[in-house]
Amino acid sequence: MENHRTDLVAAAAAARKRALAPYSRFNVGAALLTRSGEIISGANVESASYGLTCCAERVALFHALTSGKRDFIAIAIVARADRGPMPCGACRQLLAEYAPDAAVWVADSRALGRIREFSVRQLLPEAFLAAE
Ligand code: THU
Repeated sequence: MENHRTDLVAAAAAARKRALAPYSRFNVGAALLTRSGEIISGANVESASYGLTCCAERVALFHALTSGKRDFIAIAIVARADRGPMPCGACRQLLAEYAPDAAVWVADSRALGRIREFSVRQLLPEAFLAAE
């Protein structure tokens, strides 16, 4: 898992370079790791109509899901943020639905080796999930 952590954070940092965030200038990269070892990444995409913006985590998740990937064991998120970027509430909801067992690794882009770890359940306890 230790190697995975470093690799996934590096993938999120690489994805961050493709962020389209001219309005906030807050570039975020995210990368998901599947149980079989595949990595799928994404970055935030902003719009002139600000509310249409999509976070890096959701871009990565939608990219992965629509590429047929499932069974995510971790997501890494990187931005220039002192203690690493924490996912917003909307992204936590989607992670709870599609990556409930994932570890969440966050890192500041200036200190990629300093990784903080959470779980999706910890970040969104008692999540709303579709009725059976
Ligand atoms: N953003 C993300 O991509 N992920 C986060 O975890 C927090 C916020 C983006 C959305 C917007 O483009 C910019 O960061 C500022 O909020």
